[in-house]
Amino acid sequence: MHILTNLLLWLHFIGVGMGVGGGIALSQVGPRLVAAPADQRGQWWPLETFFSRIGAAGLAILLTTGPLMVWLKFGGPGGFTGWFWVKMALVATAAVAVGLHEWAGARFRRGDVGATPLMFIAGRLAGAAIVLAMLSAVFAFN
Ligand code: HEM
Repeated sequence: MHILTNLLLWLHFIGVGMGVGGGIALSQVGPRLVAAPADQRGQWWPLETFFSRIGAAGLAILLTTGPLMVWLKFGGPGGFTGWFWVKMALVATAAVAVGLHEWAGARFRRGDVGATPLMFIAGRLAGAAIVLAMLSAVFAFN
C-alpha cells in the first residue's frame, strides 16, 4: 500500500507540473493567438490546443489521484483541518475556470471575438486558484 500511495503522490506532482506548465505556456500563446490577424491564427491553434490538453490532463490527474490518496492513505477526510477544505474550494474554482476557458476558446475559434475577455479572465483565475491550492495543500498536510 505504501508503494501505491507513494506512486499516487508522484502522479499528483506530475499533475501539478502539467497544470502549471500548460497554464504558463497558454499565458504566452493565448495573447499572440488573439492578437494575430484572422488568416494567421492557424499557426497558433495547434499550440493552444496542445497546451490546453496538457493543462486539462494535469487537472484530471489531480482530480483522480487526490481522492484516491484521501481514501487509501488517510482513510477519508475526517482528520483534516480547515486548510483541506480551503484547498477543495480552490480546486473547484480551478476546475470551473478551466471549463470556462475551454468554452470561451471554442467560441473564439468559431469566430466569436466577444469571448476573448472570458478566455483571459478564466485563464488567470485558473492559474491563481492552482497556485493558491498548492499553498493550502502545504498547510493542509504539514
Ligand atoms: C488544482 C488541484 C490540486 C493541486 C494544485 C494540488 C496540489 C497539491 C500539492 C502541492 C500537494 C503536496 C503538499 C505537501 O505534501 O506538502 C498535494 C498533496 C495532496 N493532495 Fe492535492 N492538489 C490538487 C487536488 C487535490 C484533490 C482534488 C485532492 C483530494 C480530493 C487532493 C488531495 C491531496 C492529498 C491527500 C495530498 C497529501 C498527500 C501526502 O502527503 O501523501 N489534491 N496536493
